[in-house]
Amino acid sequence: MALRGWVYRHRSSGGIVFLQLRDATGVVQCTLKKGVVPEDAFEAAKGLGLEASVQLEGTAHKDPRAPGGWEVRASSFRRVGGGGDFPITEYQSTELLLDKRHLWLRSRKLTNMMRVRAVTLRGFREWFDQNGFWETTPSVITTNACEGGSTLFEFDYFGQKAFLSQSSQMYLEALMFSLGNVWCLTPSFRAEKSRTTKHLTEFQHLEAEEPWVDYQGNMDIQEQLVSHVAQYVATHAEAELVELGRDPAALKAIQAPFKRITYEDALDILRKKGFEMNYGDDFGQPHERALMEGEAKPMFVTLWPQEIKAFYMALDDSGKHALCADLIAPEGYGEIIGGSQRSEDIESMKQRLTREGNADLAPYEWYFDLRRHGSVPHSGFGLGTERVLAWLTKAEHIRDATPFPRTINRAYP
Ligand code: 4AD
Ligand code: MG
Repeated sequence: MALRGWVYRHRSSGGIVFLQLRDATGVVQCTLKKGVVPEDAFEAAKGLGLEASVQLEGTAHKDPRAPGGWEVRASSFRRVGGGGDFPITEYQSTELLLDKRHLWLRSRKLTNMMRVRAVTLRGFREWFDQNGFWETTPSVITTNACEGGSTLFEFDYFGQKAFLSQSSQMYLEALMFSLGNVWCLTPSFRAEKSRTTKHLTEFQHLEAEEPWVDYQGNMDIQEQLVSHVAQYVATHAEAELVELGRDPAALKAIQAPFKRITYEDALDILRKKGFEMNYGDDFGQPHERALMEGEAKPMFVTLWPQEIKAFYMALDDSGKHALCADLIAPEGYGEIIGGSQRSEDIESMKQRLTREGNADLAPYEWYFDLRRHGSVPHSGFGLGTERVLAWLTKAEHIRDATPFPRTINRAYP
């Protein structure tokens, strides 16, 4: 048999070299014997560094002492790419691992994460395909704030003020009128000053928009989607989940329906747990964690005070609450989806935009056009794929859910 791979472990004693070779499928032990492989090849194998790339031929033998139960005894060997002093050894600081992210991606943990990430995205796409949603590709260069001005990355677009998109929602709303149910997966950018385990400055945002759907129907869609993906990942990435410390059976139990409580119910729960909460307070990490104690499945918190929610959300008859829901993950993973029914009242949206400090509403004219020409009740949502993946894989930090994490103090490598 022929093998190609990278040196994962290396040891030589006397006339024998033990190599553990890594490739995308796993690790296998190989042995090279002096006198069996040519002399120069044997010398090259003795001096190999970690992560050198090699090619060899040999025969596989059952060996209970070898990891995986097999050993490959080499008859020929060639070093392909040099292994200089590999900068990552067993115990390394988090900072060094982030500086060497381009190499740390080869670790078992991140390999598993990236595989579960790919399977998760496949699961999302499968659900949308099976449920009549069209995939679309909105632009990430925009002249609109969607989620308020404080987290916008602004840049000069040939003399015009433009932003990196915080959300594709408004574009999805435009596309919905021709296509019906639509979805997209685009990078969203937030100049988040928060140093938490949940915030990235660039994340992959999965969003959907649905005509003729109210905020309740919107939650029905979300819980179906999230349940499908939990099942899909539990089935198609079982081994990776186990290695990452997540029991696939726990994900199999994530089945719709999810509990729905109002913001006011949530305040009561939190007060009973000793939090001092005023109506209108937003929830932080400790609140979300406390709220989800004892909950195995994600839970919706609905009908938030409109003052702390975005300008585009429809309001209930009292005008006090937004017809919205946040989906909160268990185990302290926090908000994984924000969704709402959309306002069709241009005046109300203008007032709220002004209240948020927008002096110039001209960039929103195209959006108001959507209300002027055949508006219909509609709803949509945005899901943070890294937040969902962190929860599915029981990751300690959101940065492990993405290959090259962008945070307040890091854009390298
Ligand atoms: O709740 P958000 O801000 O909602 C919107 O952007 C809506 N326009 C979406 C829509 O209705 N189409 O963001 C949606 C989700 C959050 O629930 C969270 O999962 C994720 O996006 N998210 C982040 N993920 C990582 N890092 C950040 N800084 C994030 N900010 C939001
Ligand atoms: Mg939100």
